Amino acid sequence: MGIAAGVGVMAARPGSVGLLDRRRRGPAATEPRRMDPDVLEAEDAEGRGDALRLQVELAEVREDPAGLVPAFDAVALVIPPESAARPVVAAAGEAEEAIGHADASTAGKMAFRVGGGKGYFSRRVRVVVSFRSGPSVFKDQGKLSFDYLPDKMVHRDAQTQRLFSLLRPIVEAGASSNAFLYGPVGTGKTHTAKRFCLDFRKYASESNRALDWDLVNCRQRMGDDAVLLRLLQHFDAHFPERGFSIAEKMESLRKHLEKQRLHFIVILDEVDALLKKSGADLIYSFARIAEEGTTTKGNISMILISQRPNALEYMDAAALSTFRRTNVIEFPRYDQKELEDIVHGRVALAMHPGTVDDDLVDLIADIASEFGDARYAIELLEKAGMLADEERAEEVAAEHVRGAKAQVHPIEVEERLALLDVPKKLVLLSIARKSRKKAYITMGDAEQAYALVCEEYDEKPRAHTQFWKYVKELDALGLVDTKLSGKGEVGKTTLISLPEIPARVLADNLERSLKRR
Ligand SMILES: Nc1ncnc2c1ncn2[C@@H]1O[C@H](COP(=O)(O)OP(=O)(O)O)[C@@H](O)[C@H]1O
Ligand SMILES: [Mg+2]
Repeated sequence: MGIAAGVGVMAARPGSVGLLDRRRRGPAATEPRRMDPDVLEAEDAEGRGDALRLQVELAEVREDPAGLVPAFDAVALVIPPESAARPVVAAAGEAEEAIGHADASTAGKMAFRVGGGKGYFSRRVRVVVSFRSGPSVFKDQGKLSFDYLPDKMVHRDAQTQRLFSLLRPIVEAGASSNAFLYGPVGTGKTHTAKRFCLDFRKYASESNRALDWDLVNCRQRMGDDAVLLRLLQHFDAHFPERGFSIAEKMESLRKHLEKQRLHFIVILDEVDALLKKSGADLIYSFARIAEEGTTTKGNISMILISQRPNALEYMDAAALSTFRRTNVIEFPRYDQKELEDIVHGRVALAMHPGTVDDDLVDLIADIASEFGDARYAIELLEKAGMLADEERAEEVAAEHVRGAKAQVHPIEVEERLALLDVPKKLVLLSIARKSRKKAYITMGDAEQAYALVCEEYDEKPRAHTQFWKYVKELDALGLVDTKLSGKGEVGKTTLISLPEIPARVLADNLERSLKRR
């Protein structure tokens, strides 16, 4: 839960903030869960004074021995405006939140837990301050969140080492370099790339080379324009969303790099979505900037990430030549033992001692090893802990893990389907239903099923052209794959398949979300 713009948070002793405030000024709050760093004022978005101030006194600031994540104990001091002269001190709460160098999306989840004093909060504030009462098996649930970045990615030494050998020319020779990472969901691609960039930046600064990096998820920000805008906002949070061409944006990015004499590592995550939507133009332009780069000019390197080994086939030969075969790094699925180690690590970080038995770690790793997916394993742990908390159990039991298995899906299905509007959901549902027994279905099959689905959900079916367009958009999102049939019975036809999510899981989810409307 974040601290909304309507709440002011001020440090009682400004001096103590400096230590914590290592986060660079990030982009503005254009996305949900992002917190604008400038909101640390007692004003809401309209510039009105806030009705209430939440003042956080930083009683103690200490550095986590594992790294740069500071922890602090917070005491909430609540002052309703009508009794401003008489501050009301709520019971001390404890919050150990990753702040400082954590990225902006983590900041969006910062919340101060306050033990008591509920009565003093106005209704508006109660919405944004998170409460937790009673005991919990979690010591720090945030360590199980999908955007928590581990200090070290276990069992990813080989991949990290290869990234280092590929990108070290940046530091040693000021030369650009690229890498392509691929592997199934939950194999640590995104987090290994992030962890690497953070560590690599430190390594570069020891050699006096200024280096910065940013990650864009191309599935969330599809198309050249949106991806480029996001990268520009890394340097200029207020860069306007509209009014500049791609070429102008590119020029502006180049100027930032030149001015700051930076080497910039761009991580394009889920890059297939970008390539399908806009082709390789953007990647090609980055590569050109990289080639022109001298020590005085900006330099760009790229780390491309995809679940699909063949993602780069969407590039033309010119762009592809920048990604020679040797720059490819595979992320295989984790086996049972590796998942056990990963889960063990998270138990130590997130759970109170003695609440998760080794047997349970085993069980979780067993379940998740079917998919080799670390994210699924971590979600199982979190959900099992939540079920234990619901029952007020003192420790997590096997039954909680089984319960978690029934509720958590191995792939982030819901999250991905949430991006779809109803018409596209109907199209996808018809494809999912038809695909239960067949690996490939034809466009005709899909349209047939679509007519039935529309009838069932009382929606007017769209015409063929529009249907086809929806299928293409689903393709760009990576939810379906399309290809032309080889020698068709009647000429060529488009064949549709489901690349990632099992048909049944997909259909169940879509049916549920369509019913909820
Ligand atoms: N080797 C590892 N050690 C610790 N945590 C890991 C490891 N691999 C993956 N994780 C965790 O699993 C989740 C999924 O990893 P992620 O990098 O998002 O996978 P991918 O990008 O391949 O789908 C994240 O929460 C990540 O922190
Ligand atoms: Mg990822």
